[in-house]
Amino acid sequence: MDPASLALVLCLLVPAGEGQNVTVDYTPGLAAYDLAGRVTSDTAVLQTPQCVFDNTSCPLCDVWLVSALNASISTFDTDQTNSSILTLSPYPSAFASSSSRNYFLTRVAGRADLCSQPPALNFFQVGSEGSCSTTNCNGFLPVGSTVRFKYLLVDSMDSSPIRAESRWSDDVSLYSLKDPAAIDDSLAGRSAAMIVITAVLSVALGLLLLLLMAMLILAFCWADRKPVPVVGSLRVPQYSTHNLKNPEVHVNPSYEQEGKN
Ligand SMILES: *[C@@H]1O[C@H](CO)[C@@H](O)[C@H](O)[C@H]1NC(C)=O
Ligand SMILES: *[C@@H]1O[C@H](CO)[C@@H](O)[C@H](O)[C@H]1NC(C)=O
Ligand SMILES: *[C@@H]1O[C@H](CO)[C@@H](O)[C@H](O)[C@H]1NC(C)=O
Ligand SMILES: *[C@@H]1O[C@H](CO)[C@@H](O)[C@H](O)[C@H]1NC(C)=O
Repeated sequence: MDPASLALVLCLLVPAGEGQNVTVDYTPGLAAYDLAGRVTSDTAVLQTPQCVFDNTSCPLCDVWLVSALNASISTFDTDQTNSSILTLSPYPSAFASSSSRNYFLTRVAGRADLCSQPPALNFFQVGSEGSCSTTNCNGFLPVGSTVRFKYLLVDSMDSSPIRAESRWSDDVSLYSLKDPAAIDDSLAGRSAAMIVITAVLSVALGLLLLLLMAMLILAFCWADRKPVPVVGSLRVPQYSTHNLKNPEVHVNPSYEQEGKN
C-alpha cells in the first residue's frame, strides 16, 4: 500500500472514530405549509432532513429523531455520549415525571431514504404511534408541552451510536386541550351574568310600572278636581249657533254650574 492510499484510508477511518461527533448545518422545523394537524395537542409534523447527512461517513446509518421537553435538551446533550443512549430513556417512561429524562429517540428512516429524487419521505409526524409501549416507538408527546427536536445520524451497531447530529429546533408549543371544567366555569359565569342582567331588567321594569301607576293615579286625582265632561267631547264655554237668520247665544250648562261654585 503506497503512502497516498494509506492516507486516504486513514482519512476515511478517522471521522468514524469513537467519540467523534459532527453537527451538521441543519435546524429541524415544522412542515412548511399548514397541513391539517401540523401541530396538535400531542403530535407535530416535521420536515425531514433531505441529504443533510450526506457529507458524513456511514452511508448505511439510520436517521433518528430525538424529541425533548424544551427544559430537558441539556439532559440529552449530556447523555448522548453514553453507549446505551438509544435505550437510556425508553418512550413509556420518558415523560413519566419531572425527574424522568424527558426525551425519547425514535427511528425516522434509512439515510439513503432521505436523499432520493423525488424525495421518498417529505414529512415525519412525531407521535404517530400514539400510546405505544416499546423503547423507541414514536409515541404521543406530552399534551400541551413545549418541545424541541433534533435529527441524529445513528449507527446502532457502534458503541458510540450517534455519529452526527443536527441543531435543536426552535421551541414548538403543542396545543393545550380545553379543560372541560374550565368550559363549565365559563358557562356558569355567563349564566350568572345573565341572572344579574335579568334581575336588573326586572327591577327597572318594576320601577317603570310603579311610575306608570303613579302617573295614572295622579292623572285621575287631577281629573277629579276638575269637572271635565265626557271624555272625548269638545268643551267650549260659549258659542253662537250657526243659524244665520236667527243667531242666538248658547250657554254651556256645565259652565253655568261652574260659575255658581
Ligand atoms: C462533541 O464531542 C465533544 C467531545 O466528546 C464534546 O465536548 C462536545 O460537547 C460535543 N459536541 C456536541 C455538539 O455535542
Ligand atoms: C457537503 O459538502 C459539500 C462539498 O464540500 C458542500 O458544498 C455542502 O454544502 C455540504 N453539505 C452539507 C449538508 O454540509
Ligand atoms: C419552555 O417553553 C416555555 C413555554 O414557551 C417557556 O415559558 C420556558 O421558558 C421554556 N423553558 C426553557 C428552559 O426554554
Ligand atoms: C450510561 O447510562 C447508564 C444509565 O444511566 C449509567 O449507568 C452509565 O454509567 C452511563 N455510562 C456512561 C459512560 O456515562
